[in-house]
Amino acid sequence: MAKRTIVAMPGDGIGKVVLDEAIRVLDAAGFDAEYVTGDIGWEFWCKEGNPLPDRTIELLKKHKIALFGAITSKPKDKAAAELAPELQGKGFTYYSPIVSMRQMFDLDICQRPCRTFKGNPLNFIRRGKGNTIDEPVIDTMIFRQNTEGLYGGVEWTNPPDVVYDALMTHPKFKENFAWCPRPELAVSTRIFTKKYTTRIVKAAFEYAKEKGFKTVTVCEKPNVIRETSGMMLKVAQEMSKNEYPDIRVQDVNIDAQMMWLTKNPETYNVIVAGNMFGDIVSDGFAGLVGGLGFACSANIGPEVAVFEPTHGSAPKYAEYPTSIVNPIAMVMSACMMLDHIGEGAMAERIRKAIAEVVEEGKALAYDMMKLSGSPDVVNQGAASTRQMADAIIAKLN
Ligand code: NAI
Ligand code: MG
Repeated sequence: MAKRTIVAMPGDGIGKVVLDEAIRVLDAAGFDAEYVTGDIGWEFWCKEGNPLPDRTIELLKKHKIALFGAITSKPKDKAAAELAPELQGKGFTYYSPIVSMRQMFDLDICQRPCRTFKGNPLNFIRRGKGNTIDEPVIDTMIFRQNTEGLYGGVEWTNPPDVVYDALMTHPKFKENFAWCPRPELAVSTRIFTKKYTTRIVKAAFEYAKEKGFKTVTVCEKPNVIRETSGMMLKVAQEMSKNEYPDIRVQDVNIDAQMMWLTKNPETYNVIVAGNMFGDIVSDGFAGLVGGLGFACSANIGPEVAVFEPTHGSAPKYAEYPTSIVNPIAMVMSACMMLDHIGEGAMAERIRKAIAEVVEEGKALAYDMMKLSGSPDVVNQGAASTRQMADAIIAKLN
């Protein structure tokens, strides 16, 4: 195996802690790589007025594969106040480096797997027949369109004339919203393009085909949001008919899906959705299999791919002398990276080690013990971040 170069972007807060542990696990699994550090996050906003410096963009262009911890974002007024004094008043504006990265590198395919680990005390349970407890095995991959839709950033408060006039040409707008004074009108658009809708739907079908699943669920709301959700459903139905005759399309509205996920989550294996509904449904499913400590993701574009846990920087835990956060989400994101670069067997080995640690139940991060986070959890028997990673490494050896 040729030595790889991976861009390691720790970001802020616990991002660095979990990324370091994931790299230790990768090393222990025998992944032969060199890591170059990509600066990203709040620290670089404050020091340089740019949370995604050009040098990081260059590293991503050059090496193409990145592991990312998490960043801190703060509201507009805090962003302005925390900027270095010499940079203040010079026209710097804060923007989310994650959203920028996704748009800049066309990281349009977001994959968020939600799989049950046997023995995880955080697994979803329901009542079975009689008075039994039933613990469904969930194996769901969510394909979320990552660059368009409601998170596309095309929005206005007090829209300019051309936008307002265009809206007024729509009978529904004229009938229902023309009464509103313009300064009190906020508009966020939901733009879907056929090209990117097709790409995310195709990714879902390809995955279903590879894994032998017979259904792709489109989780949108085409009965109400007729143009955009309607486009995704239609693209999926045509793709099924023309390219994947053995894979059926199931149309489930996002609201109904949130109800079904606590009734029969095991029946959903492949879900595809737009940006916001994909975000919502993936958090919903993640809650059934362990929540933020277990939720991993991949952001994949035509050239560059970035792998990250879905949790944030958890600033309140960042300064603990002994870190308590669960590194599993980050380690599993690293496994998704291995899958992507053709090291699936190594990824499987790490996932198996995690499964053994969870099933054995000797090393439990505080979230798995359902404790609320505090430095004291280690005295209450919780494994630290490092101990969790050590337990995984021990199973690899
Ligand atoms: P968060 O995900 O950082 O933390 C929420 C809570 O979840 C924590 O207080 C902790 O109880 C728990 N948690 C998070 N990660 C965990 C882990 N690995 N193991 C165990 N428990 C864990 O979200 P929050 O507090 O809303 O945001 C904190 C900062 O992170 C904000 O500045 C926010 O903008 C940013 N953020 C960044 C994201 C990213 O970089 N992708 C995603 C979400 C939030
Ligand atoms: Mg989210």
